[in-house]
Amino acid sequence: MRLEAATEFARKTLGHRKPRVAVVLGSGLGALANCVSDAMRVPYADIPGFPAATTAGHGGELVVGRLEDAYVILQSGRFHLYEGYDPETVVLPVRLLAELGAEYLIVTNAAGGLNPVFGRPCLMLIADHINYMWRNPLTGPVAKGEHRWPDLNVAYDQDLRELARKAALNAGITLHEGVYAGVLGPNYETPAEIRMLRRLGADAVGMSTVPEVITARARGMRVLGISSITNAGAGLGGGKLSHQEVLEGANKVSAQLEAVLRGVISHLPA
Ligand code: HPA
Repeated sequence: MRLEAATEFARKTLGHRKPRVAVVLGSGLGALANCVSDAMRVPYADIPGFPAATTAGHGGELVVGRLEDAYVILQSGRFHLYEGYDPETVVLPVRLLAELGAEYLIVTNAAGGLNPVFGRPCLMLIADHINYMWRNPLTGPVAKGEHRWPDLNVAYDQDLRELARKAALNAGITLHEGVYAGVLGPNYETPAEIRMLRRLGADAVGMSTVPEVITARARGMRVLGISSITNAGAGLGGGKLSHQEVLEGANKVSAQLEAVLRGVISHLPA
C-alpha cells in the first residue's frame, strides 16, 4: 500500500522525467545531488509512506535531473536498519525507484577499510557482499514484480564494474575492488569483530547497502556499488572512530566518486 501511494505521488510529481538510472548517495556524499542539472527536488516529507530521514549527513530527498545526458534519480538520504526501521521501510525507496522505471541502481556508501592495501580515504568497487545484518528485506510475502529466491551469483553487475574500472582509469583515480560486509550497527565494530570479518573474506564494512542491493536484484535491476573507504576498521591503526571522521573521509573522495559515476553513466548502453 505504501509503495503504491508513493509511486502514484512520484509519477505525478516527476511528470515527463523518466529516470533510467538511480543513485543512492551514502554518508557525506550528499553533495553529489548538486551535480545534476535541471534538478527537481522531492523531500521525503512530501512522499506518502516515507518517514523523514534522521541521521546527520543525510538530506532526505529525491533529486531528479540530468547527468551526462541521462535522466537520473538520486536518493539523498537512506533509511538504516540501525535507526530502528524495519527492512521493508529501508528498501521502500529502492522499490519506488524501480517502479519509476530505473533499470540501473548505483549504490554508494561510506565504509571502514579492512584490506591493508587500501589507502584512506579511497574508493572501492564492490565485487560482492556478505549479509551480516541478520535481516532480509525479502522475508514475508513476495512483493509484486519480485522473485521468491533471487540468484545473487552476480549481484554486482560485471559490465557496470568494467565501466567503473575504465572510468577510474581514464580519470587517473585508484579504484580498489573487494567484498563489502554489511553489519547492523549502529556501533562501530570491535577490533575482534574486524579481525573476524577479515577472515570471513571482507575488505570493507558498513551499515547499509546490502538490503537495497538484495531488493534491486529481486527486481531485476542491474547494480553497481562503490564504497568510500573513510577510515581503517577498528583496531587497524586508525585510533578512535567517529561519524565526523567518516563524513570528512567521504567528502575528500566525493569528487573522485563523482568522476567515476559520470564516466559510468555516460557509457551506459543505450
Ligand atoms: N564500520 C562500519 N560502518 C562504517 C565504518 C566502519 O568502520 N566506517 C563507515 N561506516
